[in-house]
Amino acid sequence: MAEQKEVPEVNMEQLDRIIAGYRGQKWVLIPLLEEIQHLAGYIPPESIPRIASALGLFPSQVQGVITFYAQLYTEPRGKNIVRVCRGTACHVRGGKTILKLVKQHLGIEEGETTSDMEYTLETIACIGVCALAPNLVINKDTHGNMNPKKVARLFSGR
Ligand code: FES
Repeated sequence: MAEQKEVPEVNMEQLDRIIAGYRGQKWVLIPLLEEIQHLAGYIPPESIPRIASALGLFPSQVQGVITFYAQLYTEPRGKNIVRVCRGTACHVRGGKTILKLVKQHLGIEEGETTSDMEYTLETIACIGVCALAPNLVINKDTHGNMNPKKVARLFSGR
């Protein structure tokens, strides 16, 4: 059986107040979505029909914008975002193995979040520090010259 995630609760009343502040203004969809994501950590799917109705849009239009912008999410994410570089330089210097090891340590696949909501695992295109390949980024910190020992150290206790 799949492990239950400790998903943080979303205060829908608070979201409704934010949505109401944007009512009737068609061109404010992205700032509204960003504000909701800032508050809740993601855009709860149940807020989409409310947003659409307040702005005079179809829910499919709101969903379309969320899908288009990679930085908008409809699922809760972990406290720490781990991004393994999948650029060419990192790839040829063992990036694939680093990704495999991170997956093993965290027990999740790419695009998933650990059940304790601590980590979300993603991959990223070249982050511009190819000389230090292979690289991974945890939140805003880049970790270069990664190897199995460093991965183990970064995720010790997992
Ligand atoms: S390819 Fe990974 S930093 Fe450039």
